[in-house]
Amino acid sequence: MSGTAARNGSHAASALGIQAGDDAAMLAGLVSRQRGGYCLERAFYTSPAIYQREIEAVLLRQWLLAGHISSVPRAGDYFLFEIAGESIIVARTAGGELNALVNVCRHRGAPVCSKSAGNARSFVCPYHAWRFDLEGALVRAPSMPAGFEPGEHGLKRCPVQVVEGLILVHLGGALGCEPEPLSSEILRDLSTFLGPHDLASAVVAARRRFAIAANWKIVLENFLECYHCGPVHPEYCAVMYGKRSGPEGAAVQHDPAWKRAWAERAQELGHLTGDTPLSADTPHCCSRRPIGRGSLTQSRGGEPVAPLMGTYRAYDSGITQAQLLPTGYVIAPCDYAVLYQFLPTGPLTTDLILSWLVAPTARLDDDGIARLTWFWQTTIEQDQAIIESTQRGVSSRFFEPGPYGERETGSATFTAWYLRQMAAEKGAKSA
Ligand code: FES
Ligand SMILES: [Fe+2]
Repeated sequence: MSGTAARNGSHAASALGIQAGDDAAMLAGLVSRQRGGYCLERAFYTSPAIYQREIEAVLLRQWLLAGHISSVPRAGDYFLFEIAGESIIVARTAGGELNALVNVCRHRGAPVCSKSAGNARSFVCPYHAWRFDLEGALVRAPSMPAGFEPGEHGLKRCPVQVVEGLILVHLGGALGCEPEPLSSEILRDLSTFLGPHDLASAVVAARRRFAIAANWKIVLENFLECYHCGPVHPEYCAVMYGKRSGPEGAAVQHDPAWKRAWAERAQELGHLTGDTPLSADTPHCCSRRPIGRGSLTQSRGGEPVAPLMGTYRAYDSGITQAQLLPTGYVIAPCDYAVLYQFLPTGPLTTDLILSWLVAPTARLDDDGIARLTWFWQTTIEQDQAIIESTQRGVSSRFFEPGPYGERETGSATFTAWYLRQMAAEKGAKSA
């Protein structure tokens, strides 16, 4: 960490009200004895105290994927972004600006908005009817005494930015923590890899919420490796690895000659191929890789399910992936894109929200939506079962962290990145 970043970190710690104490000492001990290349100790997956620390050290410090720009196209459109017990109103003003307003009334704290999405000219608190405009300014507060200053009682606002149609919100910014800007490398890579899909013009065709009974890191670690795909996801493997599903099929897909041939064909079509480095130094990673022999997209039978997106004019059997830790991920074959949001709701519960994006020209009826969503709906249902079962095992007093394998580098890198955030917060050393 640079000197400036370190200073920002300590300033943010005091701004966020973090106190040293027994929990801090316990956490520092846990972080420092964590073995590199191993999954985390049980407490990281179960402890309410660690969950509170990681809200402060990780979730309040990073840019979080809150949603897609097409959810708020008109003035007054809004949706609630809910994570770790906090509720943020993402709203578009009459002037076209996006605001991220903390959904906590500045009178006595009631949430001012209870609908998950809608269109409004203002938000009226249901308790004593204070009214806030779409900028968060307090515009009506009946029967307050002389000297009351409405200008000092607007809704708190989080920094918000839009990158490739993705709405990113920084919660700590509403608590006096100076947000670290996304690096030029992150912005460049997201633009390079997601740009061809023109996500800014895409629309959400379907959305599903999976309420998973597991710690968010178990959910994320599962998502970031495909070591489990053979045993857990037969349908996924049939699409991704062709007829040779299971570990043997995976080996075929990872064969350098096969990957090279795919890359040559994709490049002939003018499509991107390759990866950015996977590193615990950055929350992001992007790639464009092959799906599998004979599959044009990620669907039943590998058949197209929507019009080609953005600048794509032909299928090349490729998928784009973009990760933005700790809560966002995008997977995009040529004809759709799925946004994944990993949203902790408690130490042992996580909402995983999937939003399927398609080109604005797509016209999908119910059958079309079913075809569009089948692949990831099926896969995530299987993931949910194995994740919840794993949480039960990890919660056992007999659980001991095991080593990551060769095909779990995504999970191992996430764990290393996570420990760095936690260590930076407490001044402890990570493994
Ligand atoms: S708590 Fe909102 S008006 Fe009283
Ligand atoms: Fe999976």
